[in-house]
Amino acid sequence: MQIVILADAIQIAQYGADLIHKQISAKPCSVLGLATGSTPVALYGELIEANRSGVLSFQSVSTFNLDEYLGLEGSHPQSYRHFMNEHLFKHIDINIHNTAVPPGNAANPIDACRDYEARIEAKGGIDIQLLGIGRNGHIGFNEPSSGLTSRTRVKTLTQATIADNARFFAEGEYQPHLSMTMGIGTIMDSRKVILLATGASKADAIKATVEGPLMASCPASALQMHRDAVLVLDEAAASKLSDREFYKHIERENQKLLAQLGI
Ligand code: F6R
Repeated sequence: MQIVILADAIQIAQYGADLIHKQISAKPCSVLGLATGSTPVALYGELIEANRSGVLSFQSVSTFNLDEYLGLEGSHPQSYRHFMNEHLFKHIDINIHNTAVPPGNAANPIDACRDYEARIEAKGGIDIQLLGIGRNGHIGFNEPSSGLTSRTRVKTLTQATIADNARFFAEGEYQPHLSMTMGIGTIMDSRKVILLATGASKADAIKATVEGPLMASCPASALQMHRDAVLVLDEAAASKLSDREFYKHIERENQKLLAQLGI
């Protein structure tokens, strides 16, 4: 894992957007895996800005979102399809037919999950998967105890996740307790993973992800086995890492080497 510790959420958004920008520049028909939640919103702002200024085009890009609430239509204001349309897709030159979010309203969710996997495979797999992380270490909606090789499937949300996400729902509004989510195995198949985390509330999950054992009770710890996972953290999210000075040292050395090589 590459651990990048930056001063604040703005730098994190710029760093993550820059990785995605480089990916699309190198391969215009890139397949992106995308996340919802509050963490990636600023990064999406950076991508929108780059698209508006004409330096980045999404015309040939395809996307697959990590997850969706089961039982919500894509037009529902709390659906992740709606979130993606509002925070990214409607502001950039992407072909909306090339954007996929698990269909939360599918008549047969089990078949729909299988179909989602097949669609990712048909596109040649995901080049870069963007992730946030839950306070309990979930990635996508892979809650603690998720199989570390799991594929896209229906998952029950924990009470902690339901409580964390209640802020997006109006008082008394129906909040789903089930989701469709890419599995940890699906995420691990991505050629590159970028996980963003900000704030002290994520510090325990980050500590377990980076320095804890590989275990299903911290699903993000599976990233220890990924060949190209970059964790982009602010100081607060990194605050419980025992070796954080070493991770900063590695980054400085990497930067020096890249500068020497002119990359
Ligand atoms: C959302 C997702 C979740 C979030 C996580 C953190 O698509 O997959 O795993 O990334 O719950 O959410 P925020 O960013 O709101 O703290």
